[in-house]
Amino acid sequence: MNKKKSPTDNSLPVAPVGFFDSGVGGLSVLQAVRRIMPHENLIYFADSAHCPYGNRSVDFVRRRSLAITGFLLAQGAKAVVVACNSASEAALELLRLTFPGLEIIGLEPAVKVAQSMSKNKKIGVLGTPLTLRGGRFFRLLNNFSAGMEVYTQPVAGLVELIETGCLDDAQTTAILKKNLRPLLKKGIDTLVLGCTHYPLLKEDIASLCGPQVELIDTAEPVARQLWRRLLSTGRLNPGPGSGHIEYFSSGAVQTVNPVLRKIMADPALVVFQSSV
Ligand code: DGL
Repeated sequence: MNKKKSPTDNSLPVAPVGFFDSGVGGLSVLQAVRRIMPHENLIYFADSAHCPYGNRSVDFVRRRSLAITGFLLAQGAKAVVVACNSASEAALELLRLTFPGLEIIGLEPAVKVAQSMSKNKKIGVLGTPLTLRGGRFFRLLNNFSAGMEVYTQPVAGLVELIETGCLDDAQTTAILKKNLRPLLKKGIDTLVLGCTHYPLLKEDIASLCGPQVELIDTAEPVARQLWRRLLSTGRLNPGPGSGHIEYFSSGAVQTVNPVLRKIMADPALVVFQSSV
C-alpha cells in the first residue's frame, strides 16, 4: 500500500518523531519512546529491502541513511532517531552535517553504562560486524574501557531470522547459544546488546546467560535523551491523547506486516510501502 499526505510543520510539537532501522530492530527503541512519551506521533521506517546492514559497506549504509532521513524529514519529522547501531556507526556524523537543523539522535553500544554496572569488570558486547569494527566503536572503547576486560562478539545470521518473525524458535536460540558461549566462558557479568534487534530476544538471552549476567539495552537512555531534547527545544507533545504511529517499509509489505504486528502486538497494524 502506498501513502501520500502533506507533511506537518516540523517546528510544531504535534510533528512526528521519525525512526529508522535496517528492519524491525528499531521497534525496541520506538517501544521505549512510546512508554516515556505516549503523546508523541511517531513514524517508523524499516529498510527491509536492504536488511541486514551489518554485512554491508559503510558507503552503502550511509546512502540508505541519507535517503531515509530525507524521507522522514519530508514527512514533517521534528527529530530523527537512528534506531540502529550499524547506521549510527556508519552515518551519524554525515547525517548531522547534511541536515544541520534537524535533531538527530543516534545509538551506540552502551559500554559506558556497562562500565559503571559491572562488578568484576568483565563485559561482553554483542553487535553486528559493521558496528564492532567501526571507528566510533573503537573510540568508545578507548574512552570507556580503562580497567575493564571487554569481549566483543560479532553475530551473523540472527538479524535475518528476526526479520522473518523467528523470535522464539530453536534456530534463533542455537545462534544465540553459539555467540554467547565464548563471552560466558570469559566470565562476563554484564552484556551489552549492541544491536537494536537483540532486545527483541531479551528473554531468551537472559535465560541463556543466567541471573549472574546483567543485560544492557540502550533503548531507555535513548528515549530519555529524546525527551530532554524535545523538552528543551519546546517541541515535546503535551497531549492529550495517545499519539499515532505510522509504519513504512522498503520491503514487501506482505512479509513485513505480520512481523511488525507480532512485535508490536497489534493485529490491526498496517505498513505502507515506500520506494525510498
Ligand atoms: N538493528 C541494527 C543495529 O542496531 C541493524 C542490524 C543489521 O541490519 O545488521 O545494528
